[in-house]
This record gives sequence, structure tokens and C-alpha cells, in this order.
Amino acid sequence: CGIVGYIGTKDVKNILIEGLRKLEYRGYDSAGIAVMNDNGVHVFKEKGRIAELEASVNPDISATMGIGHTRWATHGEPSKYNAHPHQSFSGRFTLVHNGVIENYEKLRNEYLANVELKSETDTEVIVQLIEEFVNEGSSVEASFRKTLSLLHGSYALALIDNQDADTIYVGKNKSPLLVGIGEGFNVVASDAMAMLKVTDQFVELMDEEIVIVKRDRVEIKTLDGIFVHREPFTAELDASDIEKGTYPHYMLKEIDEQPAVMRKIIMEYQDANDNIKLDEDVRSAVQNSDRIYIIACGTSYHAGLVGKQMIEKMAKIPTEVHIASEFSYNMPLLSEKPLFIFISQSGETADSRAVLVHIKKLGHRSLTITNVAGSTLSREADHTLLLHAGPEIAVASTKAYTAQIAVLALLAVDTAKVKGIKLDFNPIQELGIVANAMEALVDQKDIIEKIARDYLSVTRSCFFIGRGIDYYVCQEAALKLKEISYIQAEGFAGGELKHGTIALIEEGTPVIAIATQAHVNGSIRSNVKETVARGAHACIVSMESTSETGDQIVLPEVHEYLTPLVSVVPMQLLAYYAALHRDCDVDKPRNLAKSVTVE
Ligand code: G6P
Repeated sequence: CGIVGYIGTKDVKNILIEGLRKLEYRGYDSAGIAVMNDNGVHVFKEKGRIAELEASVNPDISATMGIGHTRWATHGEPSKYNAHPHQSFSGRFTLVHNGVIENYEKLRNEYLANVELKSETDTEVIVQLIEEFVNEGSSVEASFRKTLSLLHGSYALALIDNQDADTIYVGKNKSPLLVGIGEGFNVVASDAMAMLKVTDQFVELMDEEIVIVKRDRVEIKTLDGIFVHREPFTAELDASDIEKGTYPHYMLKEIDEQPAVMRKIIMEYQDANDNIKLDEDVRSAVQNSDRIYIIACGTSYHAGLVGKQMIEKMAKIPTEVHIASEFSYNMPLLSEKPLFIFISQSGETADSRAVLVHIKKLGHRSLTITNVAGSTLSREADHTLLLHAGPEIAVASTKAYTAQIAVLALLAVDTAKVKGIKLDFNPIQELGIVANAMEALVDQKDIIEKIARDYLSVTRSCFFIGRGIDYYVCQEAALKLKEISYIQAEGFAGGELKHGTIALIEEGTPVIAIATQAHVNGSIRSNVKETVARGAHACIVSMESTSETGDQIVLPEVHEYLTPLVSVVPMQLLAYYAALHRDCDVDKPRNLAKSVTVE
């Protein structure tokens, strides 16, 4: 699920392989490159990791232009055969594609009925169509534009022609793609990180634009062939931010970075008088709404659940949280003045973007909370709040989750303040306390590692139970464990357990209870006893003020609204160590992609 390309004067193989490595974090199951020199185009592709692709590349071939791809299977199983690049029948055109073409069968029947395709992928239809139109007499550029205008769905594409060593054709719709600008070379990448070692100057592409990338220039055009002028921007990323340093895994590094992220958020959102700093237009968008609709997926959805509590409790605005992929069909009756808040680490998630496109058509206001400035959801929403968490590379999200909750807390408090609601809560100070608490927790890795070993090294399933906001953290804790250790894990509302799920408790089943909320402390502890009576191996996570002798993890005290920021940290570490004990690939879990740019 990533694309890279380079055209210049240096040997391209390493640039492409290194670029793909930087995209590994997005998740993939096969990879390939195509390089071109005087002897034509050479394609290398492999199922599995970039290292396997690298080993298969012939070191004797030197070339100064090429394209590369990591694939996360959508149409057709992960295999060398289905891996990209794909070539046209004659071998003249070579293409890499991210995204999903919804009408590829229709296009195949309409334009390619007489030919037998080589792979099961929607991508092959694109490259064969281009060749078809060229064979009919159109120029390559015209054929490329015509083909793209026939496609329904999402795509980021890069194409090379074995009769033209001076051009890479790229195009995009819905899927992310950037062009990077250099001196005597230019590059293409799904994400600036992939090419940061080569350049920090990038040009954004809009949907349904193509770019003709040469060594000395890039030409952006619409699908109708009209020139578009756009200035490059400087990617504000530090190459060292995306290195693992001495850490064995990005996930562990990112868990450890959370106290620093909290402090960074305080800095970014604090003005000289210690008040919250927000743009007036963001403020008025929130003030003027009668109901907030939070739209998100995965971990960001779980952060939204916590955000809803804070917005309703402090800012007193009714708030709903929706899973993006469901929203389009299960759209609730909207209020008169809705504000849509999109929460997305990457800012590229296609499910969320589909909702944004839809609600914009309906004329509604939108705010994106994201970690990536300039991402699609940020560009296309009316307003953006940034997470300032630094690049998150591990597929399993950690620091973005806590950053999202922190920013939502600031938004809730600021709104309350502007509305004149008196709060006994100074978020800047409270987030500082959270940062210290997180620091204490990440220093207790040995305790958590031991719990992971005792409870999770052999089990098939695990239940997390909690009430109120602890329940939301349980959902996130279960997701983390599922994602990287493949243990079947679920987060349940403590009171709901007896209505069905308790039937699953057997001798030794791990039940992890989060008990940070004083007003439900008694009832969640009763739920734990109910499971222990049926054989559960229980582990209780409490806060100093709610703890009882024998609790396995006691969290430092923080404000009751912000407990998810600290209770999630041992849950992230539990998932991490469970995955290690079970020999799982922590940073690159099977079947998952970091940024899912298909609906
Ligand atoms: C993918 C990732 C999840 C992430 C979700 C939403 O499924 O594997 O970790 O929570 O997308 O991503 P976003 O970038 O929108 O927060």
C-alpha cells in the first residue's frame, strides 16, 4: 500500500528499495520494483518482506529511473504473481497502483473482452487499457488520461513506458500521492517519509490530476489535459524522527514517547498567559454547532469515545461517535447545526474521507484532528487541529491515541470556557500531571512484561472489562492485543458481561479489569469476582485512589476525565510483550495496514 518512483542520474535500485522500506510501516504483503535502462524495463517482485525483494534484485543492473510498490492485497491473494508492477501484454508499459478500481470488471468486459488477462488484479486492467488506447493511435499521455477518466474508485498510479526513458506518468484519485522535487531528479511517493532522504520539497496532487515527471521538471495536468501550477512545500519532518534508534521496535519507542508528546501538546496549545491557544474560526465552528458528530476508524474511533465524554461533560454539547465505514449507510438524523469532527492519525483513511466528501456535499462544517499536516482529511476539512505526536510508524497506534484524547480534552475545556461554563479543571496543569504519570508507567516495563508472560503467553483469548470511560479503554486495549499478538480479545462493559459473555469464561481465562473510576469501583470489582468464581485469571488495574491490596497494576493518580491517558499505557505494553512472548512481528502485524486508503 505504497508507491515510490525516481527519475534522475543516480542508480535507482537502492533509492526505490530504501523508499519502500520507509513505507513498510503502512503494512503490505508483497513488494516489487521496475527499473529501466538502455536494455529495457526489468521487473523484480516478491511475496513477503522488502528484504526478500532486495535479495531478488539483480545487482548488476544499473538504471536511473524506476518505480516501486508495496501491496496490501485487496483483489487476489498475496503472491508474487499478483504483486506489482504489472505489465501490459507487449511488455511496453509497466504500472504500479494503490487503491481499488470498482468498475474494473465492467471495463474489462467493455474494452478487453477478447484478451486473457495475466493476473487477478484490477491493476492489470488499467495497464492493458493504456496499451489498448496507444495501439489505437493515441499518444501515451492521452491514453493515460483517457484510462484514468474511465476509472471509478481510488487510485495512486505510476507508469513507465519502455520506449521513453525520460518520463514517469503518475495520477491520483482519493489515494494519497506526492511528487518530490530535486535538482536534476524528481521523485514520487505515497508519503513524504519515503523520500525524505532524497528531498524535502514536495508538491501536493489533487484528485483526478496527472503528473508528467521528467528529470528536470514536473508538469501537473487535469484529466482534460489542462496545466495546473502548484508551488512545492517543505516537508517539516526530521529524518531522525523516523528512525528506530536503539529501540528494538517502533511500537516500544512510540509508547515511550507519550510523556514527551503530552508536553509538546501543552506547548503547542498554550498561549503566553497559560490559556488554551486555538484559532478563532475553530472556536466559532464548535460554538455554533448544536451537536458534534465524531467520525473515525479503529484506534481513532476509540479516542473519539473518550472525547465524547469530555465534550458532553465539560462543553455540554451533545456528541455522537460513529464508525466511518458505517456512517454512510447508517446515517443518523442530523441536527440543525452539526459539526463533524474527523479523528485520524494519518489523515488519509478512505472510510473517513468518504464521509467527509458526503457531508461537504450536504453543506456541513468539518474539523479534522490529525497527526499529519497537509494530509487529505486536513486539506479537505474546513479546520484542522494537529496532534504534534511526530511520525507514528508502528502499525498499532499508541501515541496518536493519547495525543488525540489530549487534544480533544483541550477542545472541550476551551469550548466550556468560551461558553462561560465554570470548570474545576486546568487542562494544561492536568496534562502535565498525566505526562509525569506516563513516565512512571513506562519505567515499569518489567512488571508489565511479567504480567504479559503470566497471563498472555499461551492463552487463546482474553477479556478486558471496565465501566464508563474505563470501558472505552478496554476496547482499545483489546484492539491492541488483537492487532499484534493475534489473541482473541474483547473489551466489555462490566455490567454487560453477565448478559452473555460470561459463558466464555473458563478455567484460566485472563480477565483484565480497569478500575480507575471511584463511582463504579465497587461494581466493577463485583464483576471481577463473578468471573473469578468461574475460573478466570483476573488482573486488576486501578488508580491510587481506587486501589485495593492485591491489585496487579496501580496507576499514579490523575484527573478522573484523563484516566484513559494513563490506563492505556500498561495496556499497550501488555500487548507489546504478549506479542514478543508469542514471537509475533510487533511493528508489522499480519494482514494489517497502517493507513487504509481503500474503503
Ligand atoms: C488502520 C490502522 C489502525 C488505525 C485505523 C485508523 O486500520 O491499522 O491502527 O487506528 O486504520 O487510522 P487513522 O489514520 O484514520 O487514525
